[in-house]
Amino acid sequence: MRVSSDFLVIGSGISGLIYALKAAQCGTVSLLSKDQITEGSTFYAQGGIAAVFDEKDSIDIHVEDTLEAGDGLCLREVAQEICSDGPKVVQELIDNYNVKFTNKKGEIDLGLEGGHSQRRVLHAQDKTGIELQTKLVDAAKKEQNISIFENHVAINLFTDNNVCFGAYVYDKTKGKIMNFQASVTTIATGGAGKAFLVTSNPDVCTGDGIAMVYRAGAKIINMELIQFHPTSLYHPHAKAFLITEAMRGEGAKLVDKDGNRFMNKYHPKKELAPRDIVSRSIDAELKASGDDSVFLDITHKDPAFVKERFPMIYERCLTFGIDITAQLIPVVPAAHYTIGGIKATTSGETTIKNLLAIGEAACTSFHGANRLASNSLLEALVCGSKAAKLGSTICIDTGAPSKRPFPKWDPGEAEDSDEMVIIKQNWDEIRRFMWNYVGIVRSNNRLKRASHRLDIVMKEINQFYWDFKIHPHLLDLRNLAQVAELIIRCAKGRKESRGVHYSIDFPMKSDVLYNTELQISMVDRIPINEEL
Ligand code: FAD
Ligand code: SIN
Repeated sequence: MRVSSDFLVIGSGISGLIYALKAAQCGTVSLLSKDQITEGSTFYAQGGIAAVFDEKDSIDIHVEDTLEAGDGLCLREVAQEICSDGPKVVQELIDNYNVKFTNKKGEIDLGLEGGHSQRRVLHAQDKTGIELQTKLVDAAKKEQNISIFENHVAINLFTDNNVCFGAYVYDKTKGKIMNFQASVTTIATGGAGKAFLVTSNPDVCTGDGIAMVYRAGAKIINMELIQFHPTSLYHPHAKAFLITEAMRGEGAKLVDKDGNRFMNKYHPKKELAPRDIVSRSIDAELKASGDDSVFLDITHKDPAFVKERFPMIYERCLTFGIDITAQLIPVVPAAHYTIGGIKATTSGETTIKNLLAIGEAACTSFHGANRLASNSLLEALVCGSKAAKLGSTICIDTGAPSKRPFPKWDPGEAEDSDEMVIIKQNWDEIRRFMWNYVGIVRSNNRLKRASHRLDIVMKEINQFYWDFKIHPHLLDLRNLAQVAELIIRCAKGRKESRGVHYSIDFPMKSDVLYNTELQISMVDRIPINEEL
């Protein structure tokens, strides 16, 4: 089956939604979501969006904070562009899409997070993501030009001669492969946190867009730069639940099991030190003590304030028997944000014609080597909006989407009861060795071991991928293995410690600034419907 539209948008988080809403003013949009339309990192965002809304603050200070966190790898002109556009795009959310941010005494309440020298984080209590995702989805559902395809998983792009014509997509409900053709295809598939055993990311974050675009031949950069959030809830039944940095911004302290505060040993800014430093400090404490977690303590604050400011966290922790107004919260670091990704400009241009990339899947060099808290929703919003402008120009120049037929996709025939066991084993194995060998602290030896393990897993995947019937888990596994391979290869290429990348073999920063860049060579390139 074939679906043809002016714009194909793969991903329905904040970047895909804002892009789709704006592109729909120019033409027809097919908006894909691999699960339900609300599922993605955006929905789970807690802290908020960073933008200059206070008279005491300025764009220049926001830029400087961003550059300081980015540890040398941010592009200043990109930071200037994104921070400058921030107030305008955030105001549009309020005016055009009815997004309601928390107010205090009639003014927008601005939160503080690590690395920010000013209060500049707009939030909806601790449910910012729910507010953004639901309001933007409501708007997309009302837009006549947008057709929403939930439970549709993009498998591969169809490119020819470095031009993109759309994508092969698997309809999970019908079990069928479809061809989506478009004048402009936009990747808004989010990050790859699921490559790690412990992550704050939801299940859809398997790096599909990055893997697809790599297979199609575009440039991928800085994949080793994975940001670990210091505080995700540690509880056997809590899957990927974040405790926002904003809680430390409101005075929560990190303590060990005996109640001793430890961040003063590591950084003058203590709990509000940059994220990489807080995560590594917790990792060091846990390795030294052998404990399973450290703890966040907000019990010294007025319980009414805690319940009002962090209602979702309060309720959720209560379901696990933890009353955060009176008890310590057990926390551990978790893989949180994919800083590297598809090399893209702030308007989403990639190295493939008519293919744009936005949001967490893209890397514009805004975040450098370490992302400043709450700067990712901002980047997704600014770049999603700018990309819609560029996409509309491309669409007008290209005219109607090309009618050329896609080569037929071979969906595979065989079914095997062993298949799921192999998929699960490979999936668990990748996530475990990525956590242990390619996590918060890395070394040459650990990376070598990870490469070795991955080679074995990739050989197994290649052996059965094309024979067996397409299954969403198999698609996820193939992409997860691909992004793991990219992360390891880039980590080996960064022979220094900078930002979120820390290697005990190269503990210092290099004098030279560089990005790690990967592009499948033409010799390695694989026809889209043949072997991986
Ligand atoms: P996402 O919102 O992740 O959406 C990805 C979309 O792509 C989904 O719709 C998914 O279904 C779809 N998709 C993926 N693969 C495919 C495929 N193969 N086919 C079809 N569709 C596909 N950042 C901040 O700035 N402030 C915060 O407070 C904040 N809090 C966070 C809290 C948590 C728990 C997490 C996980 C992240 C947080 N972040 C925060 C980061 C931020 O939420 C994300 O970077 C941002 O939401 C990413 O938006 P996105 O549009 O790029 O992708
Ligand atoms: C948080 O609320 O701590 C997450 C903010 C972010 O990742 O930017």
